[in-house]
Amino acid sequence: MKNIDWKNLTFGYVKTDYNIRCYFKDGKWGPLEVSTSETIELHIAATCLHYGQEAFEGMKAYRGKDNKVRLFRWEENWLRLQRSADGILMQRVPKEIFEEGIRKAVELNQEYIPPYGTGGSLYLRPLLIGSGAKVGVSPADEYLFMIFVTPVGPYFKEGFKPVKMQLIRDFDRAAPQGTGSIKVGGNYAASLRAGQRAHKEGFATAIFADAKTKQYIDEAGPANFYGIRDGKYITPDSETILPSITNMSLRELAADMGLIVERRHVALEELATFEEAGACGTAAVISPIGMIQDRDTGAVHQYSKDGEAGPWSKKLYARLTGIQYGEVEDKFNWCTVLF
Ligand code: PLP
Ligand code: COI
Repeated sequence: MKNIDWKNLTFGYVKTDYNIRCYFKDGKWGPLEVSTSETIELHIAATCLHYGQEAFEGMKAYRGKDNKVRLFRWEENWLRLQRSADGILMQRVPKEIFEEGIRKAVELNQEYIPPYGTGGSLYLRPLLIGSGAKVGVSPADEYLFMIFVTPVGPYFKEGFKPVKMQLIRDFDRAAPQGTGSIKVGGNYAASLRAGQRAHKEGFATAIFADAKTKQYIDEAGPANFYGIRDGKYITPDSETILPSITNMSLRELAADMGLIVERRHVALEELATFEEAGACGTAAVISPIGMIQDRDTGAVHQYSKDGEAGPWSKKLYARLTGIQYGEVEDKFNWCTVLF
């Protein structure tokens, strides 16, 4: 076990010992390589640098109550990476390469998996880039798949305490019929200005209105949005939202706990009606939203008055993280025990 201040980890980069690489060249994937270097050598005309041929995933390995190490629904991350690859014409990563890569990355860096009880986890960042040279706008002939890992704490510094978010309409992270539903770097570049402004104005992140009509809730920064009202778990469905694996799991848990689940367009006016609200994702886990301010109208929607998450958010958080840390029954078989 490394000598790290586990309890005070943030969502930042901490160097680990090994990362994984695999190259697609001459029409085929090569062997998995283990590297100790934090840098890569790249052609100056690589398509990832010029034309945004880049997609990534985010997943976590958890050290459980029984000291076993679990991955959560990793096949869903692999499937989403296929969709991302298809969406920007990159070479798909075969399942065996993805699986062997994530297993190796965790095993080789196991001393960096935060101990049980610290609230931390080992974040895995699989990354696929067009590495072949092109000058005309076209997909590369060569690709590089990598995985690095880093120990992380909460994405928002508040952890499981309610955060403030800002509803905005003057930036879009993705275009209608664009790349919002896949996990490509360009979406994140497009979200940076909104995110930085939200921070400067005192908010954890920006909630985007849908790009086409500005009538509906889209993404909550780097996470999906949900609201709870009258025994219902309500979450946006939109062509510009990333299908979150955390949200998919919360919908199943919510239904299992007796909530009615609605996945549909969620009108901005509904923000005034929720009893609880939250942002969910691998990095954010569940980040309860204490208040949302509409940047254009000034309207304020308050969901937490006492600085605590609401009862349903607490229950969902306990059940989700309980499964991930091996504390409660994994009824849906979501976890893969690595070792
Ligand atoms: N939305 C965006 C824009 C994200 O970057 C993420 C993070 O991956 C999510 C939602 C949540 O997805 P997941 O729960 O699969 O991590
Ligand atoms: C994740 O939740 O894994 C994300 O990718 C969100 C953000 C760190 C980009």
